[in-house]
Amino acid sequence: MDYRNFSMQTPLVNTLSETICRITGAEAVVLGDVIQSLWSGYGVIQRAALCGMQSQCGDADVPVVIKHIDISRARANPRGWASDVSHQRKVRSYQIEKTFYEKFSEQCKQRCQVPKFLAADEIEDEAGWVIVMADLNFQGFDGRKSHVDQQDIHACLFWLANFHATFMGNAATGLWPAGTYWHLETRPDELDAMPEGRLKNSAEMIDRRLNEAMYQSLVHGDAKVANFCFSEGEPDRVAAVDFQYVGRGCGMKDVAYFISSCLSDEAAARQQESLLGFYFEQLQVALAGRNSAIHFPDLECEWRELYPYAWADFCRFLAGWSPGHWKLNSYSEQITQAVLENIDRS
Ligand SMILES: Nc1ncnc2c1ncn2[C@@H]1O[C@H](COP(=O)(O)OP(=O)(O)O)[C@@H](O)[C@H]1O
Ligand SMILES: [Mg+2]
Repeated sequence: MDYRNFSMQTPLVNTLSETICRITGAEAVVLGDVIQSLWSGYGVIQRAALCGMQSQCGDADVPVVIKHIDISRARANPRGWASDVSHQRKVRSYQIEKTFYEKFSEQCKQRCQVPKFLAADEIEDEAGWVIVMADLNFQGFDGRKSHVDQQDIHACLFWLANFHATFMGNAATGLWPAGTYWHLETRPDELDAMPEGRLKNSAEMIDRRLNEAMYQSLVHGDAKVANFCFSEGEPDRVAAVDFQYVGRGCGMKDVAYFISSCLSDEAAARQQESLLGFYFEQLQVALAGRNSAIHFPDLECEWRELYPYAWADFCRFLAGWSPGHWKLNSYSEQITQAVLENIDRS
């Protein structure tokens, strides 16, 4: 571990270190590299070593990752805070991530691995909170990718299928009632900013179709390639991080968004059938392994029908988020047009 960023001097760091020791039972914590700063500098995600944790792995230091959100600084933001939809969404997203690690993450076994949760707590004076989790790099998942091959894509779809199977029918208590970071209800400004037209007019209808699906699970909500950690030793498996937008939803939202995050327009069109085929195969196996009573053909039929809706829903967000220069590419445009025609006919 590199201790270059080790700096116990500032009061904030002391409070953080004290909090971490208190909630994990460590005798001391050595803060390491900052992986990245979070949300306009209101927090950090940082490596650390917990010392003196006899019970966990002898007396060796335990390598962890700390996600620390400093709300006091966000509150002081001059842009206004209580009225700012995006601030409120962010705060809630971090609270939800904490809840996910505390209450749900343990159910994620090897086939949809997530970092092992160690502890989380509020920091005194409502200053924010901290999540302490195992460092996946020390479990072999030290690869991060921006370009993926077929095996990588399958590994991520395998993770998604197993995650969706694990939480099929879950009520998502304490998580987003509708998962994903682009969910319509949480994006009123982007809806306003959208160019007038059929997609804008149908935004609610598309959202409703997805929300009213009979088969619902938990969706990761931001399942892009950057949030998967790869392992050279186990290339068929990945682990996932970043659960700020986890909530109830149709699994197709994760699948469509994941595909959009790593395949070109042309490749997404060409591989659509084979990738969906692989995903549903894995979903069926995973559900069978859980002795699910679900009639799988009904689930597959419903979710396949909703795959284009999931794309259209994400395209709706993009069109409002970046209205000036974002263009529907031909694959997502075709899919979205087909959905709009479907809605017109119904
Ligand atoms: N438990 C962990 N073990 C190893 N790396 C992690 C862990 N948690 C996060 N990371 C790394 O830090 C990056 C940022 O974390 P993430 O939770 O995605 O923050 P953000 O919300 O800012 O995207 C991840 O993409 C991943 O590479
Ligand atoms: Mg991330």
